[in-house]
Amino acid sequence: MKMIPEEWSKLSFAYYPTNYNVRCYYRDGKWGNVEISSSENIIMHISATALHYGQEIFEGLKAFRGQDGKIRIFRWQNNWERMNFSARGILVPEVPKEIFEDSITKVITLNKEFIPPYGTGASLYIRPLLIGTGAKLGVAPADEFLFMIFVSPVGPYFPTGFKCVDVKIERNVDRAATLGTGQFKIGGNYAASLVSGRQAYDEGFKMALYLDAKEKKYIDECGPANFFGIKNNTYITPDSSSILQSITNMSLRTLAKEAGLKVEQRKMPVEELSELEEAGACGTAAVITPIKSIHDKEQGKIYTYGNEPGEWSVKLYRKLQSIQFGDESDKYGWITEL
Ligand SMILES: Cc1ncc(COP(=O)(O)O)c(C=O)c1O
Repeated sequence: MKMIPEEWSKLSFAYYPTNYNVRCYYRDGKWGNVEISSSENIIMHISATALHYGQEIFEGLKAFRGQDGKIRIFRWQNNWERMNFSARGILVPEVPKEIFEDSITKVITLNKEFIPPYGTGASLYIRPLLIGTGAKLGVAPADEFLFMIFVSPVGPYFPTGFKCVDVKIERNVDRAATLGTGQFKIGGNYAASLVSGRQAYDEGFKMALYLDAKEKKYIDECGPANFFGIKNNTYITPDSSSILQSITNMSLRTLAKEAGLKVEQRKMPVEELSELEEAGACGTAAVITPIKSIHDKEQGKIYTYGNEPGEWSVKLYRKLQSIQFGDESDKYGWITEL
């Protein structure tokens, strides 16, 4: 398959078939060898725990093609660590680092032709998956598991690209319980956000912003991304037991500090939204999605931040992207060159 440059730059954030994926099975208490597959299907037992009891973990990261033609994978070690953190959270065996590294190297190398060229704004999205395949009827963890990775060339998460979006505060649905599974990247959390996410979208918002489930006083995160705000030369982002530890957010905190901002990771009361100079969502898919307004319908409030991305959102976005695409050297050890 060959795409012409105009097609690369028209890609959206969607599944696009590639040539190969990789798979590794856990049976009899141990991981097997990394296998290469050209099938987009998996055969699974009808009573697999992934289908019934939510033993389903996924990850998301990206590889970028630089101007020099080199392929750069961004912080895969952190995704490996987070996947195993999720695994411990739902009784799934951890994947050894060598298997993760071998898998990611193989799947990217085998699908090189799908890595979008530099300058198109597109990149290769990498989706590791770790699921319970063993059969159980009663509620229990499986005995057999499958780890796999597939990839897809992607464009921006929002077709509008780096443009400001409207966001809605969701007060009628909890995405994740305070002492629940919000810190794990598992399917159940996303299932819990589908109805409210769709409703927000139907009402004209790009995302729902969830609050802490216990008190409804503090900001948690958006459906597919962490939240941050800028005020008084400070980058502020919520600390919560029910949100995903975003690797993009970790990176932005480092870059913000280096650029001279103070960085605070703490509880963010909803009222603080009125004091922010800039607001944004951050994650692998969109890097930064600047926010122009946040609507808190139940409280009759609208917080606005202007129609154009703020100064710091632009600076941080550009800085992170230029490291990812290799325009700037990586002094942080975030990039693995293939
Ligand atoms: C719920 C949620 N929060 C935050 C993020 C951002 O995390 P990361 O920056 O590691 O992609 C994601 C996306 O992966 C997500 O799904």
